[in-house]
Amino acid sequence: MKNKVLVTGGLGFIGSHTAVCLYEAGFEPIIVDNLSNSKISALHGIQELIGYKPSFYQNDISNIPALTKIFEEHKIDAVIHFAAYKAVGESVEFPLKYYQNNIGGLLAVLETMKAFNVNSVVFSSSCTVYGEPDQVPVMEVTPMKEAESPYGATKQMGERILNDNTNWCNTQCLRYFNPVGAHPSGKIGELPLGIPNNLIPYLTQTAAGIRKELTVFGDKYNTPDGTCIRDYIHVMDLAEAHVKAVERLIENKQEEAFEVFNIGTGTGSSVLEVIKTFEDVNQINVPYKIGPRRSGDVVQVWAETTKVEQVLGWKAQRDLSTMMKDAWNWQLELSKKTFNN
Ligand code: UD1
Repeated sequence: MKNKVLVTGGLGFIGSHTAVCLYEAGFEPIIVDNLSNSKISALHGIQELIGYKPSFYQNDISNIPALTKIFEEHKIDAVIHFAAYKAVGESVEFPLKYYQNNIGGLLAVLETMKAFNVNSVVFSSSCTVYGEPDQVPVMEVTPMKEAESPYGATKQMGERILNDNTNWCNTQCLRYFNPVGAHPSGKIGELPLGIPNNLIPYLTQTAAGIRKELTVFGDKYNTPDGTCIRDYIHVMDLAEAHVKAVERLIENKQEEAFEVFNIGTGTGSSVLEVIKTFEDVNQINVPYKIGPRRSGDVVQVWAETTKVEQVLGWKAQRDLSTMMKDAWNWQLELSKKTFNN
């Protein structure tokens, strides 16, 4: 019998890739997603990759009776909780929506887990909890700064809530840096609805001619080329980190009930380096201009990865060129689908 892992938000960008990696590692993914920021086509992509249609529930995670039904129908061994809103700017405009979904949703998931005696969860956190760090790279013990947005606050609070429940629940808390790329098959990837906020989908849409030009948000920062630095991480590496975290939970290898890991490559890349790598690896020109800074952007952040390598036994395998190649491959697949529809 395979261990069953409930993947909330399992049709989203990271969730869909994780569902595939879970299957490949011998788990059975059970997916719940309300399709608020994803499409059913992700389920079809997963199905093509794993060879069968995984159990899927189109439900809101705040709906406890609906969650209860899933736990009644499946003996869940662990939960990976992705389902949450993630747009920083939107969270400033609609804070209640963010607190309701990101905090209310987490509480509903935990209540249901507790009722069914399921005590293992992987939580999607973010490097946003570090704010503008005093020193880079950031370590897991680097103190958090006051959150800059309701989105950031929900990640900090989520961590706190899980930390307060260690008397019954074991948590692997993964702080993602900047997830990019796509499955190399081009069957699943990121599906930004509307105009993308994040760099990579904007860049691939510009290369595809959907957007006229990319704006680089500021080039006078105190960095080697003047643009901001981030730790971009391939979504497949990220998905594999979740598999490691689930294995650690299920095999009872945790040393502490609440464990936190940075999930990054340990290397920072500037916006201009990202554009150049994309252009070089894909042999395509991306029109861009330098614009004003975006408010709320931190200057530079990248991960210290010693802990995750030594304790979780995970290390990113894919470099920036691979990320840019797979992101472009996915954009080409998406453009084909839109064209054919
Ligand atoms: C953002 C969030 C972060 C969240 C992550 C995933 C902020 C401050 N942080 O990360 O909390 O976890 O998304 O959703 O919003 N850039 C451009 N032009 C663009 C878009 C981006 O130059 O059109 C630059 C940004 O200034 C930044 C870098 O590209 O330096 C990456 O930006 P983005 O992809 O939006 O991610 P973050 O802002 O790092």
